[in-house]
Amino acid sequence: MEISQRTKDLKPSATLVISATAGQLQAEGKDVVNLSAGQPAFNTPDHIKDAGKEALDKNQTKYTPVPGSVEFKTAIQNKFKRDNGLEYELNEIIVGAGGKQIIFGAVQALVNPGDDVILPVPYWVSYPPMVHISGANSVFVQTDFENNFLLTPDQLKEAITPKTKLIILNSPSNPTGMMYNKETMIELGNICLENNIAIISDEIYEYITFDGKEHHSLANLDPEFKKITITGNGLSKAYAMTGWRIGFGGGPQEVIAAMTRYQGHSTSNASSIGQYAGITALNTPPEEVKPVFEDYQTKRDIAYERLSGIEGVETLKPDGAYYIFPKVSAHYGKSCDGFEVHDSLTFCQFMLEQMLIAIVPGVAFGADEYVRISFSGDKDDLIRGLDRLEEGLNKLK
Ligand SMILES: Cc1ncc(COP(=O)(O)O)c(C=O)c1O
Repeated sequence: MEISQRTKDLKPSATLVISATAGQLQAEGKDVVNLSAGQPAFNTPDHIKDAGKEALDKNQTKYTPVPGSVEFKTAIQNKFKRDNGLEYELNEIIVGAGGKQIIFGAVQALVNPGDDVILPVPYWVSYPPMVHISGANSVFVQTDFENNFLLTPDQLKEAITPKTKLIILNSPSNPTGMMYNKETMIELGNICLENNIAIISDEIYEYITFDGKEHHSLANLDPEFKKITITGNGLSKAYAMTGWRIGFGGGPQEVIAAMTRYQGHSTSNASSIGQYAGITALNTPPEEVKPVFEDYQTKRDIAYERLSGIEGVETLKPDGAYYIFPKVSAHYGKSCDGFEVHDSLTFCQFMLEQMLIAIVPGVAFGADEYVRISFSGDKDDLIRGLDRLEEGLNKLK
């Protein structure tokens, strides 16, 4: 059968090559250290799982309204107010199948074919395909390592064209772990306001911040920003609920209504069971959830100190999320036993096949000089993985 051009254009992510090889090696009984995961290693807390079971017992197994049940949306409304100082009406809130669907829906609701969407690089892997599916163009703006991979107001101004409709910001960032401070956010927000550009603020890692750094919701920094911003979030990262597929967003009523129409003809409501359990998740005070993340800061420190001491590796200290994004391109052009490393993909293939450590090539995020290492898992695995990485680098000549 003839496959549509739109889907033909979608390239499988570079991460798939790595995870397929990792799976194959593991199936062969090899002890692969997997530092490629994008999800928390701990399980969904018991009280949330109990709520999921209760949902079944109470037969909460039918359709809910497309944008989510009133009860869950009320819990989201309270969460936005409690954590982000954001006051949304219920018709300004939508629930979807993960934060991914929220961002996807917001992009589809906000742009027309031919519009420009600004994406700071490195970007989260799924943003460019989402823009592509909408028929709009991604305008990639290279950020600098020296500036913590953060978009500067000047870079934003330079990237704007008469066709610019939207920008997607992600703080804390996947893959860099870096966060915008309040002042820069305000400057970026003002430029968007002046130029009539909508903002998707992807805040899925908001709870995972280090060194006491405070997360800021862009929409809360100015009442005018709230009118042009869709705030995306979800249960996956904060509550270790990646498989439950529950995300949510807040934004102007007409945008949420458009996203609801789109969702109504695609997936309809997100899982009723997930929504029911989500009420318990969101009603858990952040003070009870956040201690779990202190462990991430310890692992961030281990990864940062170790990588900083390796010759030919440069890295920033992440402010949040559970990724570190070292520059390894000084090793490109080297080889070991006939295996030549010449970009982030061959670098990661070498590390996987020869050193049995799975990490993600930076090319997946638009930054081929870098690799992404996740510290969301076990501390001892992280240390073993970093040992192998260093050993592998010593082998490359
Ligand atoms: C930056 C970012 N945004 C959104 C998501 C979406 O997560 P989910 O669809 O599981 O809520 C992820 C997941 O990896 C992410 O890293």
